[in-house]
Amino acid sequence: MIRQSDFGCLTLVLGTVILYLAGSVTQLVEYRPFKPRVAGSSPARPTILTVSPSSSQVQDTGLSRRQQGFKSPRGRHFFTAVMQIEFLASESLGVRSMATLVRTKDLTLFIDPGAALGPKRYGLPPDKVEWQRLHALKGKIKALLKEADIIVLSHYHYDHYDPEWAPFFKGKKVFLKDPEGNINRNQAQRAKELLKRLAAAGVTWCAAEGQKLVFGNTQLHFSPPLQHGPEKRFGYVVAVAVREDGFCFIHSSDISGPVEEAPLIFFRDQDPQVLFVDGPGTYLGPRFGLEALTEASRLLVQYLTESGLSTLVLDHHLLRDLEWHRWARPIFDIAAKRGVLVTTAAGFMGQKDLVLEAERAKRYKMHFRNLTR
Ligand SMILES: [Fe+2]
Repeated sequence: MIRQSDFGCLTLVLGTVILYLAGSVTQLVEYRPFKPRVAGSSPARPTILTVSPSSSQVQDTGLSRRQQGFKSPRGRHFFTAVMQIEFLASESLGVRSMATLVRTKDLTLFIDPGAALGPKRYGLPPDKVEWQRLHALKGKIKALLKEADIIVLSHYHYDHYDPEWAPFFKGKKVFLKDPEGNINRNQAQRAKELLKRLAAAGVTWCAAEGQKLVFGNTQLHFSPPLQHGPEKRFGYVVAVAVREDGFCFIHSSDISGPVEEAPLIFFRDQDPQVLFVDGPGTYLGPRFGLEALTEASRLLVQYLTESGLSTLVLDHHLLRDLEWHRWARPIFDIAAKRGVLVTTAAGFMGQKDLVLEAERAKRYKMHFRNLTR
């Protein structure tokens, strides 16, 4: 029988223990968890993330569900993850981008809030359909930017950020690709301009490379500088791993493949369940480098063979090519054997691929055919 006085004592002891533990935890972390957000800005409860590819996606790639690594409905991939991953814009969603929002119980992270269009493709400028899509998706990105506690810019290409949005970074923790080290001239110039805008808006930032941060149960690990594709002259990018309760997601933009070992070292170290990677620019063919295309395929196959990955999301450079699945065939093959889901950002979000840039010539042709009728 517990008396009222005993109950009071018990509460006091428990309270002291909780306060002590909370104090210890706070000492361990490098940052305290963020202040509570505006109500409704983040999920209150853990989310079960379900990935089940649609049949339309199978038609898009021209490969069977087995070849694409999809399991039967009975063995569908379920991630009992607490984090929400939302791909907001990408080539498979109609624009050049890798804009991604990640929500954990501790924070909302916006990686690469930007989007753009290919200025010339097949010798043609973007058409009305692409401009409309860009406006719609940039509007969505801009609106969701308000919800972010942390902003990450992987590098200084305009499909990954919008310099005019610098004032919206105010009050957030901002992690930038190092604007001075491991950067090419073009990106260094853009970085300088962005830093001016950030300073004018009173925004503080820090260089992301190699940082390891803890926010409550969420950990962020940034990669070392990773080469932007096969040649050093294109500069470097930074990838980020988000981990919560044993679940890990990696956003790895513009490594164009991978075409070298360095990103794989980071992937192996982090051992993610979901990897979002841009894939090589197969649409450039020999201009990208045929050897580099083969190397990118070899490295991804190697990684799929040895990793515990559940889902590989391929998009961005790769999805500018209508025939991208031809290059990806060895990846689909190994993924099928290993039970890994290979999909696009649109597929991950349960949508059909909308590769507007890759289909630009087709739309122009249709348009002129209709005019001459
Ligand atoms: Fe890009």
